[in-house]
Amino acid sequence: MMDRKEFLSMLGLSAGALTIAACMGGSVAAPNVDFTLDLSQSANAALNTNGGYVYSNGVIVAKTTSGAIIAVSASCTHEGTSVQYQSSNNRFYCPNHGATFSNSGSVTQGPANTALKQYTVTVTGNVVQVKG
Ligand code: FES
Repeated sequence: MMDRKEFLSMLGLSAGALTIAACMGGSVAAPNVDFTLDLSQSANAALNTNGGYVYSNGVIVAKTTSGAIIAVSASCTHEGTSVQYQSSNNRFYCPNHGATFSNSGSVTQGPANTALKQYTVTVTGNVVQVKG
């Protein structure tokens, strides 16, 4: 039978293992961001057209067919490929294995099983702020 000290030291070991697992999970988390895009700059011109999209700071920023600007994390939650925006289907699409996500980032088709992170978008004149 193990004594109290041995038991406590075993607990310490498993707590450490849990910490390591939590850190590994954190390394693939979507980034926290707070940036702006100037729609008058050519690099962001795609956002002046419904259906257009750009990548910035690990985020895909897209303009829907109804003209709303939306933003989600760009890396597919399956294996990290950059997703694309398909405005005709109102969805984000991963060209690697075909996962699809709604405009708010929810999984609508696997193999991904975790949502893309959705960011808050505020448009003021020509300036788009993406935050989250
Ligand atoms: S990397 Fe996106 S579906 Fe596999």
